[in-house]
Amino acid sequence: MKAVISGSFDPVTRGHVDIIRRAWRLFDQVVVGVAVNSSKNGIFSMEERVELVEAAVEGMSSVSVAPVDGLLVDFCAEQGADVIVRGLRFGGDFDYELQMAHMNKAMSGIETVLLPAGREYGTISSSIIRSAASNGGDVGEFVPEAVSEALRHRFGDASQT
Ligand code: COA
Repeated sequence: MKAVISGSFDPVTRGHVDIIRRAWRLFDQVVVGVAVNSSKNGIFSMEERVELVEAAVEGMSSVSVAPVDGLLVDFCAEQGADVIVRGLRFGGDFDYELQMAHMNKAMSGIETVLLPAGREYGTISSSIIRSAASNGGDVGEFVPEAVSEALRHRFGDASQT
C-alpha cells in the first residue's frame, strides 16, 4: 500500500519525522506531500521545506518527498496513493483532522489513517518552533539537524543548539 503524509512542514519537526518513520514501517511506499496551508504565515519557501524534509528522511528507502500544488486529493491520485496519513497529538487536533478526513473522503473516496503522535514529541508544533527560534530560543532538541542549521542561518546564532 502507498501512503501520502501531508502537511505544511514549516519546518519539519522530530514529531513529524516520528510519524513518517512509523508510516514507513507500516506501508510499502510513503510520499511526503509538502503542501501550502493558506491560513498560515510561514518562514520557509516551498523549495526549502521540501529540501529540509528530504534531509530528515534520508536513509528511509521507500520514502519520497514532493510539493503539493493544489488539492491534496489530486496529488494523491497523481501519486497512486491508497491512504492519507496524519499524526494526531491531542484532542484539539481531532476535530480538525476529522473535518479534513471527511472532506477528502467526500471529494475522492480516499481514506485517512490517523497515527497517534509519539509521547516524546507529542506536544510540539511548527509554530511553537518558529516562535521560539525567531526569538533566539534553543530548539535543537525538537527538530532535525538540517532544520536547526536552517533556523540558525535564518535567525542568527542565538537559536543555536
Ligand atoms: N509533530 C509535530 N507537529 C505536528 C505533528 C507531529 N506529529 N502533527 C501535527 N503537527 C503540527 C504541525 O507542526 C502544525 O503546526 P502549526 O499549526 O503550528 O504550524 C500543525 O500540527 C498542523 O500542521 P500540518 O500537519 O502541517 O497541517 P496543516 O494544517 O498545516 O496543513 C494541509 C494541512 C496543508 C495538509 C491541508 O491544508 C491541505 O491538504 N492543503 C492542500 C489543499 C487542500 O487539499 N485543501 C483541502 C483540505 S480538506
